Amino acid sequence: MTDRVLQPTEEGIGIAAERIRSGGLVGMPTETVYGLAADAGDERAVGRIFATKNRPADNPLIVHVADVEQARPLVDAWSDTCDDLAGRFWPGPLTLVLRRSGQVGDLVTAGHDTVALRSPDHPVASGLIRATGRPIVAPSANRSGHVSPTDAAHVLQEFPDEDFPVLDGGPCVHGIESTIVAIDDDVPFVLRPGAITLSALREVLGRVEAPVIGEQGAAPGTALHHYAPVTPATLVRTDELDELLAESEVPVVVLSIGPREADPPHSVIEMPEDAEGYARVLYRTFREADALRASVLIVEMPPLAGGLWRAVNDRLRRACVLRD
Ligand code: TXA
Ligand code: MG
Repeated sequence: MTDRVLQPTEEGIGIAAERIRSGGLVGMPTETVYGLAADAGDERAVGRIFATKNRPADNPLIVHVADVEQARPLVDAWSDTCDDLAGRFWPGPLTLVLRRSGQVGDLVTAGHDTVALRSPDHPVASGLIRATGRPIVAPSANRSGHVSPTDAAHVLQEFPDEDFPVLDGGPCVHGIESTIVAIDDDVPFVLRPGAITLSALREVLGRVEAPVIGEQGAAPGTALHHYAPVTPATLVRTDELDELLAESEVPVVVLSIGPREADPPHSVIEMPEDAEGYARVLYRTFREADALRASVLIVEMPPLAGGLWRAVNDRLRRACVLRD
């Protein structure tokens, strides 16, 4: 299996770029999560992505570009607002949804008249896009509905029977997916909270609207049960945790914020107390918790604070059942 891993050297990136140019798929590291990359202009390759992920055809893909110059031809109109956002956040974990041009295929956008664009801030991703010389589509490199991969090994775990190579860019810095913002004639709207916070967006845009965390997301792929570990997971308030552990007859794994004691057969995974650290390890921890084969995963509810906690709470509410 390890012969599928490509080192992030010029040679490795060159091999990956050749794969993409000839219609193949490649696991691509980014600063958010790993993506499953293909040539955005190659309908067959794009179709292969949907088939490989078992992704519903009505869920559009993000097109990754090296820079604004590569983005312009893909949209109907690149506005001053786009320049401001890209100037501040590109390359980086911000995806812009804009009215598309005729250069983007129907499969990529799932028939929508908009396209999602992002310029990733990872040397291997930007190196790959430049070496390929074309815009690259890349959904997260997991089977549809699973947790996104944040390490090259996770991509292999998700697709053990496929033969596409994976560029090893190390663990992802952010650990959760990009912020998606729809820019049209109305007030800009956050379709998916992510590593770029609402307050950072407001500094550039002034007004931005965002959904209430825990409600159905506005992006087509953000169905309520998503990004979920295999083990049934419940989100629990701190003051309910001890009682729940004492009562549980089955082994429980607790994702606790900071240290916590639990008697066997229960076990504790201690999570970072800051939102950045928490987000970075969240998906990896879901995979570790699944590997422990506990019957139940209990996640201590993080603070309902702003900043990056918004995105963390959004993902947790999709991954877990809420205890009422
Ligand atoms: O951080 C990320 O964005 C990662 C890395 C690999 O770049 N990619 C990622 O892709 O998370 P994916 O396919 O797992 O999620 C893309 C989301 C989906 O919810 C999809 O519905 C939404 O973007 N999306 C794509 N095109 C859209 C469009 N035209 N309008 C609205 N939402 C769109
Ligand atoms: Mg995804």
